[in-house]
Amino acid sequence: MRATHSALSAHTIQPPPRSMAAAAAASLLHLATSACSPRVRLRGPTGRRPLQERRLRAAAPPPPRAYKVTIEHGGESRVVEVEDDETILSRALDEGIDVPHDCKLGVCMTCPARLVAGEVDQSDGMLSDDVVAQGYALLCASYPRSDCTIRVIPEDELLQVQLATADD
Ligand code: FES
Repeated sequence: MRATHSALSAHTIQPPPRSMAAAAAASLLHLATSACSPRVRLRGPTGRRPLQERRLRAAAPPPPRAYKVTIEHGGESRVVEVEDDETILSRALDEGIDVPHDCKLGVCMTCPARLVAGEVDQSDGMLSDDVVAQGYALLCASYPRSDCTIRVIPEDELLQVQLATADD
């Protein structure tokens, strides 16, 4: 009986020496962190980012730029930051400036304004090129392209200009 127990003990698997276990653990930890590293996952075998990711990055639009827009309305003047992909009307309303508006689509002409300084893109609006060239704008169709100053005007003023231009 004693001899049998001794024979079993001789064949029992013993844990590896401590230094060997530590080396194995360190190696596994290295593999695990390397596999989880975004740098390893994002780059191909050449060290470059995969083609699909490079194409997505190239196609991504640049971040929007913000311009300082001075809005003159009702005898007051407010400066607001307007990003180039938002309309001046949208920002004005977000800032609590009570400017006249209705459709927000550049159709009803309830948000007329005069561009005093600077540049806006209003290619989505319904104003004729002649009227735009005279400095008129619709707040809901105006995207800033520089720091600018824009003054809210009465609807009648824009309508008269529109009619006069249509008669020419
Ligand atoms: S809100 Fe209608 S044209 Fe601007």
